[in-house]
Amino acid sequence: MPIHLIVYASRSLIPPAYAALEISDIVTKSVERNGRLGISGALLYTEDQRFAQALEGDVGSVNDVMASIRRDARHTQIVMLYDGPMQGRYFPDWSLAYQGNAPAIDQAIRSAEYEVALPSTRALSELLGMMVRLVRQP
Ligand SMILES: Cc1cc2nc3c(=O)[nH]c(=O)nc-3n(C[C@H](O)[C@H](O)[C@H](O)COP(=O)(O)O)c2cc1C
Repeated sequence: MPIHLIVYASRSLIPPAYAALEISDIVTKSVERNGRLGISGALLYTEDQRFAQALEGDVGSVNDVMASIRRDARHTQIVMLYDGPMQGRYFPDWSLAYQGNAPAIDQAIRSAEYEVALPSTRALSELLGMMVRLVRQP
């Protein structure tokens, strides 16, 4: 069965002072639910209060989790960067790939959002590559 991949970016509505607590709650619940559904992927949170997330698994499960995420009042301005089939998985498990201040990551997310209107996937590939490297870091 082909793998379905969703990559999106959004803006956090969590007051920065509460972000660490809220994100650890999101991660705890996601490890449980995503694990149960066979979904892997990664979540980034940046100092500019952006999220970027990749979710991969069977199409029904990925769409179910994405529907919950869309309803979540902790973020807004969801931009779909990719929503389609993939040859295989990029991420071995589900994980929080990055949380913190990294201008390069904000730049990569902004570029991928801009690129959505263009016939190009270079910025998306760069963002995914960045996520994969962050996940592989010890
Ligand atoms: C940026 C962000 C990413 C999230 N990622 C996941 C996720 O990967 N898996 C998950 O189960 N919940 C995730 N959540 C939490 C869901 O939005 C939701 O609260 C949770 O799945 C409960 O779903 P329900 O409200 O449909 O019961 C995320 C929330 C946010 C704000």
